[in-house]
This record gives sequence, structure tokens and C-alpha cells, in this order.
Amino acid sequence: MTDQAHDAVILGAGAAGLFCAAEAGRRGRRVALIERAEKPGKKILISGGGRCNFTNIHTAPDRYLSANPHFAKSALSRYTPADFIALVESHGIAWHEKTLGQLFCDGSARQIVDMLTGECALSGVDIACGQEIAEVTHVDGLFRVRTGDRTLSARSLVIATGGPSIPKMGATGVAYDLARQFGLKVIEPRPALVPLTLGGGDVLFRDLSGVAAEVVASCGKAAFREAALFTHRGLSGPAILQISSYWRHGQEVGIDFLPARDGDWLIDAKRATPATTLRALLRDALPDRLAATLADRLALDGDLGNRTDEALRQAAARLGDWRFTPNGTEGFAKAEVTIGGISTAELSSKTMEAKRVPGLYAIGEAVDVTGWLGGYNFQWAWASGWAAAQAL
Ligand code: FDA
Repeated sequence: MTDQAHDAVILGAGAAGLFCAAEAGRRGRRVALIERAEKPGKKILISGGGRCNFTNIHTAPDRYLSANPHFAKSALSRYTPADFIALVESHGIAWHEKTLGQLFCDGSARQIVDMLTGECALSGVDIACGQEIAEVTHVDGLFRVRTGDRTLSARSLVIATGGPSIPKMGATGVAYDLARQFGLKVIEPRPALVPLTLGGGDVLFRDLSGVAAEVVASCGKAAFREAALFTHRGLSGPAILQISSYWRHGQEVGIDFLPARDGDWLIDAKRATPATTLRALLRDALPDRLAATLADRLALDGDLGNRTDEALRQAAARLGDWRFTPNGTEGFAKAEVTIGGISTAELSSKTMEAKRVPGLYAIGEAVDVTGWLGGYNFQWAWASGWAAAQAL
């Protein structure tokens, strides 16, 4: 096929690309959307356990990680969760809040994909799926994108190809290749919202595979009170996924197994019922297998009445901040998102346009902005896509 006249070519029909295309089309721009998969929005379809946690009502810039923590402020404030909820409702999609401000479809994630592709159709967006990007060039202010069977050109090019998390679903690092091709810096991409693996002395905890408990997981200054899950490789569950975004190789992760108890709770228990044991108290508070493992590790058998206050204080302190040193993560294969990406220093926070390459934009997960678990990453995809669409 020969060149077509478009104002913008958007690469990647995921959350950010679909939303940006629909919005730019609505503003009268002639948009082509190029996707390598056979269908658009594949990650949306599997998101939120098939129900798509499409936003979070507590969205705020401090729930995003980036080398520049201020970068996301502008876009997040101009396209908010309320804006997306209004769009969802205008399509008659029923939703509910599950927990912690996380909004899910009552029905299925398919409704969000249908909504976005429907908006694209209304806006006259030309969506081309099954198109591998073969080459991108930029000559005389015109970007030219060559795929297997098409060549498209436009004055604006939007990189919306996401990050390399879950390569089995077709995720690629092409965003970074394109960024580098145009001289933009890339912050080292790492897997995030990902299970952590345990080895060494912690390996015995793998025997607890399948056991979950509400904990506070912490790393450095970050702390999350949610469920943690022991797995056959290490640690997972929402609290661990959250903390994994902050964790770096060599760092310890602290787990408070009893977040509701203060530092003197064992001493109080000794005074109240001296004949009780640590094992029995832990069994009351935690799943049996976890209680037994922690009691074994603390080796504080016998009646609490026979233990010194100092020994009990130390045991309580250990239970309140149990230290694990993960030996790694389960990697991009299991990571819900990628942290790092195209450096925000290269982009305008208002329009997502590359400062040094007029007409080139980057949005969504491709950019070095990564949200917490719980709908924050889709909100960034919508907000950054909307910001770029206003400038296209
Ligand atoms: P996204 O990955 O969605 O889209 C990129 C698109 O580019 C894809 O369609 C891809 O095929 C295409 N592409 C890649 N390389 C290409 C190439 N070379 N040529 C052409 N096209 C190419 N977030 C959230 O807020 N709530 C949730 O419930 C979940 N749940 C969830 C579950 C699972 C299992 C995962 C893996 C992730 C989530 N996420 C999430 C994260 C969320 O899916 C993610 O942040 C967004 O999809 C990012 O949107 P983007 O459009 O930037 O990338």
C-alpha cells in the first residue's frame, strides 16, 4: 500500500495508543494506529483478572515512580479518574470499587477494549493490526513508518508500544530502540509489580507456598499494608508486588507479620496469661503453617511466663520487621509493568513531545513513569495519551 495522508501515526494499540488515537481523532486529526498483534488492547483484556482495574480514585503523583517525581503531575491533573469514569459511564459500563479506590468493570475487560475501539471508529482512526514495524525514518519534518505491507507518513509520531513486561503477550522493547534512534535517553528498564524470589537462609519459607497473610511490607521508606503470599519461588501478593517496584538487588525487604500489634504485645500477653506460649499466640493471629514456621525460627518454646521481657521484646521486634533478602525477581516474564523507560527529561510534561525532536511523542508505559498496583498504570496511560492528543 502507498503512503496515506495522516496527521499522526501512533505506534501500539494498547491502552495509551487507543485512547490517544480516539482523542486526537475526536479533535479532527487524521490518525493511523499501528499494532503488531492481530487485535488491539491485549493487555487490557487480561488486566484486573479479566475485569480491568481501569483507574484508581486515589490517583495522585506520589503514587508514581519516576526519576522525576514531578513529571506526571501536569498530565494527571488535566485528565483525571473522574474524566475516565464519565467516559465509562457514557458507554453504559457498570463498575464497582473493589478495595483501596480500585475501580473494576462489573462485567469484563472486553467492555473497555470495545469502548476504546468504538471511540476510535467514531473518530475515524485507521487501525492497522498485524503490522510489525520494520523501519522508522524522519526526513524534512516527516516521520515515515514502514511495516510489513504499509508505509505511512505524518508530521507527528507517537510511541505507545509499552514496555517489555510479559513478552509472551508480544510486549517488546521497541519503544527504547526508537527512543535511542532519535537520541533520547532511556532510564534502565526493570521489571516491577513482580514477585520476589528467595534463596539462602530464606529458602525454607518456600515450604509455605500458598499461605497468605495481611502484612506490612517495606523497603527503604516505602511500606504497603496488603496481603503477602508465599510461593514456591519466594514472595508475591499485592504487598510484595507493590514493594518490588522500590526494591533493588542487594536490599532487604522487611515484613511486619502482625501490623496490628505494638512492640510490647508479647510482654502484655505474658502478664495477662503467663502459661500461654508464643506458638499458641501466633496460631491465633496467623495461618497455622506460617505461625508454626515463625515460632520454629524464633525458638522461644515454653510458657511466656518463663521468658524475660527483653527476650519477648526482641521476638516482637523480629515479628514486626522480619528481614528477607530476595535474590531476584521473577523477571519481565511475570512483571505487571516495567519501571524506567524513556527519560522524562527528554519530554514536555504538558504534551509528552520530545523537546529535541519536534513531532515525536511518547506515552504510557514506554515512559519512565510507573504507578502503584491498583489502576494507577491505566490512569497514566489515559492521562499521558490525552495530554499528547491535545498537542497532535
Ligand atoms: P500496552 O502494553 O498496553 O500496549 C502497547 C501495545 O504496543 C501493545 O498492544 C503491543 O502489542 C504493541 N506493540 C509492542 N511492540 C510493538 C511493535 N514492535 N510494533 C507494533 N506494536 C507493538 N494496570 C492497571 O492500571 N490495572 C490493571 O488491572 C492492570 N492489570 C494488569 C495485568 C497484567 C497481567 C499485566 C501484564 C499488566 C496489568 N496492568 C494493569 C498494567 C497495564 O496493562 C499497563 O500499564 C498498560 O497496558 C500500559 O499501557 P500502554 O498502552 O503503554 O502499553
